[in-house]
Amino acid sequence: MIDKQSPIPIYHQLEEQIKAKIENGEYKPGDALPSEREYAEQLNISRMTVRQAITNLVNERYLHRIKGKGTFITEQKLEQNLNGLTSFTEDMRARGMEPSNKLINFEIIPAKLSLAEQLHIAEHAPVYEIKRIRLAEGIPMALERTYIPANLIKGLTDHIVQSSLYQYIENELGLKIGKASQLFEATLANEEEVEYLEITEQSPVLFMKRTTQLENGTPFEVVKSSYRADRYKFMLDLER
Ligand code: GLP
Repeated sequence: MIDKQSPIPIYHQLEEQIKAKIENGEYKPGDALPSEREYAEQLNISRMTVRQAITNLVNERYLHRIKGKGTFITEQKLEQNLNGLTSFTEDMRARGMEPSNKLINFEIIPAKLSLAEQLHIAEHAPVYEIKRIRLAEGIPMALERTYIPANLIKGLTDHIVQSSLYQYIENELGLKIGKASQLFEATLANEEEVEYLEITEQSPVLFMKRTTQLENGTPFEVVKSSYRADRYKFMLDLER
């Protein structure tokens, strides 16, 4: 379905067709794209034109080439809007995806000095250490290590942290979450991330550290999250 009479360049028409097939699910992430020759023959256009369309889609990250193997459909990343203080559960539900958690560790430990300072508590005061894999539709998105003062956020259970922490804090404890500061860093996966996020060694990871406070200014969590860089991207509106 190429319109050779159209003022729209043929390579661009082909690009749009391939994109549409990716978007409607006909081409699935990881699938091999038909070869240049197949497109050229089927659509009766030159291989050069096909190559141009494919190169543009590789540059736009819809496709990627693997040496000696061919061209493949790239997994589309989830875009997270950073213009609000939301929870993982809310982020996934807002997209119509089902969030879940795999709990790796849940215990109370004495706070080390630096953590105690960030949480405005005494050194060695009890904190919950929660390590969870956060999944969307059953796929691991992030590994999250959360530290919460046990004397402030009372009654946490493994059951609660396997659903939503923010929901418990706001709806069950009736506390108001105020604001957070968040740091971003690009890193390569460490051993733990390779294991839990099901990625290969040296994969890129987006590391984030969030410190969040209640409306009254009391910090209630320090969270270190490692997001799969192949699954996630972040968006921020900037005003001047
Ligand atoms: C995000 C934030 C964390 C926060 C978590 C709460 O992942 N980066 O700082 O602790 O959401 O999520 P939930 O309410 O789903 O447990």
